[in-house]
Amino acid sequence: MSPQHDPSTEVRTLFSELGVELPLPGDLAVEDPSLGQTVAHVAWLDAAGVDAATTAASRAFPHLRDLPAPARGELVRRMGERLRAHKEPLARLVCLEVGKGIEEARGEVQEMIDICDFACGLSRTVGGRTLPSERPGHRMMEQWHPLGPVLCITAFNFPVAVWSWNAAIALVCGDPIVWKPSPLAPLCAHAVVGLLRPIWDDAGAGDAVTLALCPDPLAREMVADPRYPLVSATGSCAMGRAVAPVVGARLGRCLLELGGNNAVVVDGSADLELASRAILFGAAGTAGQRCTTTRRLFVHREVADDLIARLRRGYEQLASRVGDPRDPNHLVGPLIHARARENFTRAITAIQQQGGTILAGGRALPGPGYFVEPTLVQVPEGGLPLMDEETFAPILYVRTFDELDQAIAWNNAVEQGLSSALFTDSVGASEAFLGPAGSDCGIANVNLGTSGAEIGGAFGGEKATGGGREAGSDAWKAYMRRQTCTINASGALPLAQGIRWD
Ligand code: UN1
Repeated sequence: MSPQHDPSTEVRTLFSELGVELPLPGDLAVEDPSLGQTVAHVAWLDAAGVDAATTAASRAFPHLRDLPAPARGELVRRMGERLRAHKEPLARLVCLEVGKGIEEARGEVQEMIDICDFACGLSRTVGGRTLPSERPGHRMMEQWHPLGPVLCITAFNFPVAVWSWNAAIALVCGDPIVWKPSPLAPLCAHAVVGLLRPIWDDAGAGDAVTLALCPDPLAREMVADPRYPLVSATGSCAMGRAVAPVVGARLGRCLLELGGNNAVVVDGSADLELASRAILFGAAGTAGQRCTTTRRLFVHREVADDLIARLRRGYEQLASRVGDPRDPNHLVGPLIHARARENFTRAITAIQQQGGTILAGGRALPGPGYFVEPTLVQVPEGGLPLMDEETFAPILYVRTFDELDQAIAWNNAVEQGLSSALFTDSVGASEAFLGPAGSDCGIANVNLGTSGAEIGGAFGGEKATGGGREAGSDAWKAYMRRQTCTINASGALPLAQGIRWD
């Protein structure tokens, strides 16, 4: 192995290109999933370290709260600039640590830059409304104040972007953020915080962001800590089910972005070329490890043979493009770890036991690395129970329908409600899908796939996806506290609802 392919050397080179010191060595082994090889050992925070992170954020709060919002926006603008200047090495680190294809890894860093731009503009527009008062000489208005320290828990699959959606918005809202990254991606988290810390230090807000890489029991203590008025957590539905009751018990606020079991519906009028390309990216991109990954496909019987033939050809071509994510010719990288590959293999066995037919792929590839073939499964007429579960791997189930209503009902028949898409040329079908009796998901697209949302929209989903909204639109409201103020300049004291009390 030549030195430039030795992943531990690569880690050192990338940290030096980023101008960031390597994290302190410790017990947490970090693997390159494309080689199945340990590339670093990183130190966990202990209980005292975690408490210090929370204390630092609590102390940073008054300072950040008292900075004018546009000054906080300037801080975030500078973060975006620094990320722009270091996009390539950061993307290469994402690629190395979580096995994301280099092109998608660049997209992930671009998402960070985009949210910084968005948040900077937001810093001059966050605010409330003035509302008509029923009382003469009274004015009623809403204002939004910073909330306090935010605990941000992120997953391995978007090891930097999801933090940035939270951090950029939290910071312009005046909230410090403590980042509990996935133990599968600590290098990315260290690199981002190390890269951006000089900006926070310059602004005298060094503790505005603190990293808290800690094992699960300590993370649970943080979730229970009332010093965090908001816990924003991205991960599995199981993780959300563990976090929500703990935050609920202390009557804190949760922003949850959990699993998805996203469907594409293709009706008889759809452009099948467009649909098949979107489906391939949605199902096999990021090796099927996005929360927005397309996992189910419902196709109208009239066009099913044609679409499935196109997809089979696509999957055949894709088979030769699974491999080292550093190579831009490879479109599908590895799964994150050996367990993920075992889950894939177990799912394939269950699919066959449940009467599913493997139309393409279906095999885990020999190591090194945790590669699997993107897989297309024909669902038997009676259905396939496993299809209701989110297997975090590139497995796509295809089922045929006769009526759009049936496909919409199937779209909605899973516990999650994150993303959905319809391919059609019919305005009526599009309106049915987007209408109140249509898709029940937080994201509903027409003629584009389920994954790859832009940051300008509010991102998140319903039901077991957790109900949270992050990134654009008015998602900022979750990071602030709303205050309704009525000001009486009348000199009299009329009571609301016309009550006489004298
Ligand atoms: C996730 O997988 O947790 O819409 C987030 C998308 C990306 C974000 C996915 N912009 O696919």
